[in-house]
Amino acid sequence: MKNILVTGAAGFIGANFIKYMLARHEDVKIIILDKLTYAGNFKTIADDIDGRRCFFIHGDICDEDCTDRIFTEHEPDCVVNFAAESHVDRSIEDPQLFLKTNILGTQNLLDTSKRHWVTGKDDNGRPIWRKHVRFHQVSTDEVYGSLGSEGFFTENTPLCPHSPYSASKASADMFVQAYADTYGMPVSITRCSNNYGPYHFPEKLIPLIINNILEGKKLPVYGDGTNVRDWLYVEDHCKAIDMVINSPEAEGQTYNVGGHNEKQNIEIVKLVIRTIHDLMQQNPEYRRLLPDGDKGADLINDSLITFVKDRLGHDKRYAIDPSKITRDLGWTPETRFEDGIVKTIQWYLDNRTWVEDVTKGEYRHYYEQMYKDR
Ligand code: NAD
Ligand code: DAU
Repeated sequence: MKNILVTGAAGFIGANFIKYMLARHEDVKIIILDKLTYAGNFKTIADDIDGRRCFFIHGDICDEDCTDRIFTEHEPDCVVNFAAESHVDRSIEDPQLFLKTNILGTQNLLDTSKRHWVTGKDDNGRPIWRKHVRFHQVSTDEVYGSLGSEGFFTENTPLCPHSPYSASKASADMFVQAYADTYGMPVSITRCSNNYGPYHFPEKLIPLIINNILEGKKLPVYGDGTNVRDWLYVEDHCKAIDMVINSPEAEGQTYNVGGHNEKQNIEIVKLVIRTIHDLMQQNPEYRRLLPDGDKGADLINDSLITFVKDRLGHDKRYAIDPSKITRDLGWTPETRFEDGIVKTIQWYLDNRTWVEDVTKGEYRHYYEQMYKDR
């Protein structure tokens, strides 16, 4: 049995990951550690926690006592570190929080893993590691910075982060690499492009646009809407991590993960508008979700778009070259964007209670503050 400590699994990708793993591996045990910040929602994972194959611990990755206790009690042989402050806009408002969680938290997890996984020292004073252990860091393409209109990020692209968020993620990656280089720790890193899919918090572009349409609000597009992101369906990201942590040859490696699916933000926003409009035509029941019912459905069109003040330091374009993970491990994405986006939008239409749950508290205040001067 593989015992995996998954941090941040009450958030978007972590929750999808544990569901993916539990559905595909009979012999996996998952221990979730999550602080349940504004981005973590216990209800997302409540049905997965059975005290047999899946456990939940409410705690902070920065808290050494907490992570130590988890290692003593559950003896994980793999850590998959999703826990992070993940939103670029928030990092511009409060950089220090990102430094604490994303850098110090990762370093504490590395230290705890080292304390529990090192079994002794060899004659040269080098740590001897327990067999078959792995520390996996979930990273991002944003550590590479921004591209012009040509080219792709490869694993050899120099790190050049711009936002406080990406600077904290790059620093965490370097700590992971430092533990491998200095202590011989078995590690791996994946750097993925923008994910989309179920359970995505509505502060991020796609779920924000869906939610605003359903609430009859304007759709804020930063700058002129021509910034490019490279979108990947979340389950394909989960599949990549599963392959990496289960492949001995992936030890010590960094892999870029992406599906060659570049889109300008404005294209995404128009596509979401069109898709919701069409779904409302096909299924009139969905119109009941709108404040103005049938009348509201007729107003779902591009006139909802409003161009607003740009994000500070806004990276122009991200695009991933995933050929290393395809070549080495045989990973390829399975979900075509045209299918994934409809599936995602349909999920949001069918799960209004989840959205209302995560947007009713701090989110309203956040939205007002973040968008009031734009
Ligand atoms: P998210 O914001 O939806 O979820 C983050 C989770 O971490 C939440 O459940 C939150 O409660 C938890 N958390 C935050 N601080 C914590 C702490 N100190 N201790 C324990 N738990 C804590 O994030 P996401 O979008 O699911 O991203 C997950 C990871 O994947 C992040 O590391 C992010 O950098 C990376 N990533 C995200 C994307 C993307 O498109 N969303 C792409 C590439 C990489
Ligand atoms: O590339 C991977 C990264 O993708 C992850 O590391 C981050 O955790 C994740 O949040 C995401 O970062 P982005 O900044 O690319 O995602 P976001 O959804 O915030 O924005 C996507 C694009 O849409 C970006 O160019 C900014 C723009 N945008 C965003 C919002 C929230 C808008 O135009 N309007 C908006 O209201």
